[in-house]
Amino acid sequence: MLAATPFDPQYFSEVLCLRISDDLTEHGWSQQNFFLTEELTISLAAECHLLNDDGGMKLAGVGRGSGQTVRPTIRGDQIAWLKAGQSIACDRYLQIMENLRIALNRTLFLGLDEYESHFAFYAPGASYLKHLDRFRDDDSRIVSVVIYLNPEWLQEQGGALRLHPEGMATQDIVPLASRLVLFLSAQMLHEVLPATRDRLSIAGWFRRRP
Ligand code: OGA
Ligand code: MN
Repeated sequence: MLAATPFDPQYFSEVLCLRISDDLTEHGWSQQNFFLTEELTISLAAECHLLNDDGGMKLAGVGRGSGQTVRPTIRGDQIAWLKAGQSIACDRYLQIMENLRIALNRTLFLGLDEYESHFAFYAPGASYLKHLDRFRDDDSRIVSVVIYLNPEWLQEQGGALRLHPEGMATQDIVPLASRLVLFLSAQMLHEVLPATRDRLSIAGWFRRRP
């Protein structure tokens, strides 16, 4: 059994949710450390490694639908979408995000209907150039969420998530295990800098139903 986390309904922390909501309202992003238990983070990282080793991931595309193209110099991560029922760890993670979605709807009134997410694996040197997470022809993504799965990450290993908040200094966030970052998908320009080691994460989006 995996240990309980603060996001189990019976342990859910109203305080954490209010902190995230305040951050998003005030400057468009929020960073929360120690968001998942170490045990769950390790299980998710192991699953991401396994998918990568078994050829279960594919090079991510840029754009959407028939307009999607693979351009590794713009975006170099390998991805695998999470599906309900694929593993105990993924189900546990999806339940935590479902609880967070419901909690954010109570404090932010963003009308978040659903959550989609994928594992992302950046090999050394891979990056994702500056972009917005909202597609030109689809405004369903409201809040972007990234959880990092990399133990003992050092700043000099690169791989930061660089946020470009409007009218403010850029923010570099080190992709350290169990750290959660949220930002407004339509507004926050951001990029993934290349790293000297494998960089694992789950990137996801709270969406409004189109
Ligand atoms: C993305 C993305 C950020 C990160 O997948 O769209 O910007 O830090 N990810 O992995
Ligand atoms: Mn992005």
